[in-house]
Amino acid sequence: MDIAILGNGNVGEALGGAWGARGHTIHFGVLDPSGEAARASVAKGGAGASAGTAQEVVDRAELVVIALPWGVTREVLGGLEGLDGKIVVDCTLPLVRDEGGMRLELGHGDSGAERVQAAAPGARVVKTLGQVGFETMADAARLDGAPVMFLAGDDAGARETVGALLEAIGFEAVDVGELRLSRLLEPYGMLWVHLAFRAGLGRDFAFGLRRARSEG
Ligand SMILES: NC(=O)c1ccc[n+]([C@@H]2O[C@H](COP(=O)([O-])OP(=O)(O)OC[C@H]3O[C@@H](n4cnc5c(N)ncnc54)[C@H](OP(=O)(O)O)[C@@H]3O)[C@@H](O)[C@H]2O)c1
Repeated sequence: MDIAILGNGNVGEALGGAWGARGHTIHFGVLDPSGEAARASVAKGGAGASAGTAQEVVDRAELVVIALPWGVTREVLGGLEGLDGKIVVDCTLPLVRDEGGMRLELGHGDSGAERVQAAAPGARVVKTLGQVGFETMADAARLDGAPVMFLAGDDAGARETVGALLEAIGFEAVDVGELRLSRLLEPYGMLWVHLAFRAGLGRDFAFGLRRARSEG
């Protein structure tokens, strides 16, 4: 699948490397497509990888991953054409910084994912990957057992496609349903941030789902 990744920072490169290594063709949407950082990302993205402006890579892809800071996400999306019908994977957390450190800008009555959907109304937005660090996106197999990864979106086909992409890079994908459930997923992402940076757990963990053993 041709996958556009907007942003080639920690998350963009981790996902591009992981999906590129599994046969997908990665196109990084960057501010400076001919710059050194873009060339380095393309080298990590596997066969056929490319870099371009956000609009150029959206035009090349059937699925678009947002790996941008929350502060620019809606503006970037609002400037793009051709998102109608495409799957847009939102892995941002709507974080803002205040005197207490990082916090969610939006609470349980709204979500960043719904704002993303409003900025790209024809896209099939799927929220996921907010409750894990980029190191695990790059290589989930280094953890003890498959980390769980929830996903939410209003289009069942889009959720199925994204679920398969998550499973391919080592997650146990759990479809939670419609996009408004991102109101639960984003605070859960904030819990990961809290545990990693304030509660002393560090970045090297992910959440897992445990079920009862089946009888007989
Ligand atoms: N880091 C994690 O472990 C993690 C985990 C889960 C979710 N997230 C979320 O994922 C998103 C990305 O995180 P990250 O850690 O990858 O951030 P990052 O390393 O800072 O990367 C952000 C990328 O966005 C690019 N960018 C900034 N402004 C832009 C604009 N106006 N137009 C186009 N591109 C622009 C940056 O380009 P330049 O480098 O050229 O500025 C950079 O490539 C955030 O919303 C974050 O909350 C992060």
